[in-house]
Amino acid sequence: MTMKKMPPIGLGTWNLRGDECTKTIQIALDLGYRHIDTAFNYDNQVYVGKAVQGFDREKLFITSKVMLDQGDVEEICGTCLKELKLDFLDLYLIHWPDRSKPLDVVLEKMEKLKKQGKIKAYGVSNFTIAHLQDCLDLKAHIFCNQVEFHPYLYQKELLDFCKKHSIELVAYRPLGKGALLNDPIVCQIAKDKERTASQILLRFLFQKQIPFVVKASSENHLKDNLSLDDFSLTKEEIIALESLNKNKRFCSQSWSDFDYRGL
Ligand SMILES: NC(=O)c1ccc[n+]([C@@H]2O[C@H](COP(=O)([O-])OP(=O)(O)OC[C@H]3O[C@@H](n4cnc5c(N)ncnc54)[C@H](OP(=O)(O)O)[C@@H]3O)[C@@H](O)[C@H]2O)c1
Repeated sequence: MTMKKMPPIGLGTWNLRGDECTKTIQIALDLGYRHIDTAFNYDNQVYVGKAVQGFDREKLFITSKVMLDQGDVEEICGTCLKELKLDFLDLYLIHWPDRSKPLDVVLEKMEKLKKQGKIKAYGVSNFTIAHLQDCLDLKAHIFCNQVEFHPYLYQKELLDFCKKHSIELVAYRPLGKGALLNDPIVCQIAKDKERTASQILLRFLFQKQIPFVVKASSENHLKDNLSLDDFSLTKEEIIALESLNKNKRFCSQSWSDFDYRGL
């Protein structure tokens, strides 16, 4: 089974639950979103499933994720499929690195799921270069590494490493949960371009050909975030946005392994 091309704009669903989740995804599908990002621990897969029921499966790209401390990756994949009422996932990610679990065994199970057709591809999330190197040493076919990525956390070294090894870097939290929308430089560029701050931040990624997953719940925001291909940022604007980097994460560090250097 071949994998579909991942649509560059994905809808994030973290914190979208219940009927609001279903309704938001239905609106997003009507507007043209095709890539939906969920996870076993978002507690919303049933509602994502309701939203996509009846939609042409071939046109959808569904990503889910598993935390290794939540149980066996094969069993959890089965639960994800049941909750989503789908026969396969387009992409299944190891949500966070967890070196207390044997990576070779986990990756073998991912390969098995792929061979069984339950997933079309697998990848990782929140992996540093050292974690990725561990995967490469095991000759695993990692499709992507989904990481927090935006101008305040411009992870250039990680991006270059991913490119070198043909691993797609997928940006999550591209608006910093909304915090970057008030940045003065972002707002100035938005004013100059007569665009919204969100569109500037997303166009920054789009222009760098970095796929991303962004969450929005209002129809206006959903529309805004899809309208990125009728303007462009200048080289100077891109540099100004890159210069905002301050290694600032909007993700809890409590379960992270960002200091792992593979020593
Ligand atoms: N792999 C991981 O460990 C991981 C971790 C975190 C997140 N993620 C994924 O990444 C997705 C996105 O991250 P996120 O949800 O944390 O944050 P985000 O996408 O950076 O920001 C979402 C916030 O921005 C607002 N927003 C969206 N579009 C807007 C617009 N056009 N104008 C003004 N405000 C706008 C939303 O408001 P409204 O809701 O009011 O529209 C929401 O408050 C998540 O949903 C999840 O799928 C993955």
